[in-house]
Amino acid sequence: MKNYRALILLFALVIGATGCNAHGAATTIAGTTGMSSDKPKKTYQDLVVGFAQIGAESEWRTADTLSIKETAGQLGVELEFSDALQKQENQITAIKKFIAEKVDVIGISPVVETGWTDIFQEAKDAGIPIILVDRRADVPDDLYVTYLGSDFLEEGRNSARIMVNLTNGKANIVELVGTIGSAPANDRSAGFREILKGYPGMKIIDSASGDFTQARGKEVMQDFLRKHGNTITAVFAQNDDMALGAIEAIEEYGLKPGLDIKIVSVDAARGAFEAMIAGTLNATVECNPLLGPQFFELALKVANGEAVPKRVTSQEGIFFPENAAEILPTRKY
Ligand code: AHR
Repeated sequence: MKNYRALILLFALVIGATGCNAHGAATTIAGTTGMSSDKPKKTYQDLVVGFAQIGAESEWRTADTLSIKETAGQLGVELEFSDALQKQENQITAIKKFIAEKVDVIGISPVVETGWTDIFQEAKDAGIPIILVDRRADVPDDLYVTYLGSDFLEEGRNSARIMVNLTNGKANIVELVGTIGSAPANDRSAGFREILKGYPGMKIIDSASGDFTQARGKEVMQDFLRKHGNTITAVFAQNDDMALGAIEAIEEYGLKPGLDIKIVSVDAARGAFEAMIAGTLNATVECNPLLGPQFFELALKVANGEAVPKRVTSQEGIFFPENAAEILPTRKY
């Protein structure tokens, strides 16, 4: 058991030494941790990390939480984990608790972009660095050390490019938006529209939030169908869960999802692969939730006062029904 743990630690250190998918300028955390060079370096086993998670709204989020918890367990990091049930005030309370407990590093996936400046400033004043994970926060640069997560804007652009191909540049699109005010909802909407500008035949005829959940995605799609009926020819769902809800609503309405109405979504979770195999979903754009290893690698560096890039993005693909059955067994979420 001891040898196994040592092996994992060695593996983690090698990964740490070789670096991750890092982009952007390297920054230090001067003024946040103030480590001096003669202090002994912390190891993963010395590290105490507070993580303020959003909730459990999607298959994606469940995989992300598992990745954070499993990686902490494997590395021997002491993890204080909080689930905010999709409420910003609960995330703020969790950060206050982490500050009181004097954790080494705080990780947070901010549910929405705004409203974080005061609490992040409190953490900085207490000398505790913050790492943004998955979603960004609209705060001054000096209030967080690094932002690890996907390029949501590009995910929106790729979704639009696929939609143009699927519909030969002519579609009446309804859009299922994620949580209002969240970084992925803001960016996916913007990226999608940026590409569609070049295609006058591609019209967004309605857009509403399904809050990234399957249940809300279904309800919003039912509303769209009541209002627009079979004039709808395409759905852009900003995550797979909402797409699965939309598929149910379309089937209950008596139309064929994937055929009568083309559907593109984001995440590339297992449920999306199953839908592609069933022929009800036309494509899914990957958003990688398995952020645990990169997060703790950054946390250790930050706790030791080492420079880290200000932005670290994850590598992501796009998947279609043609090879969904072959790929599904390899998917980890
Ligand atoms: O922030 C990432 C998004 O949050 C995922 O696309 C969605 O499924 C999740 O709830």
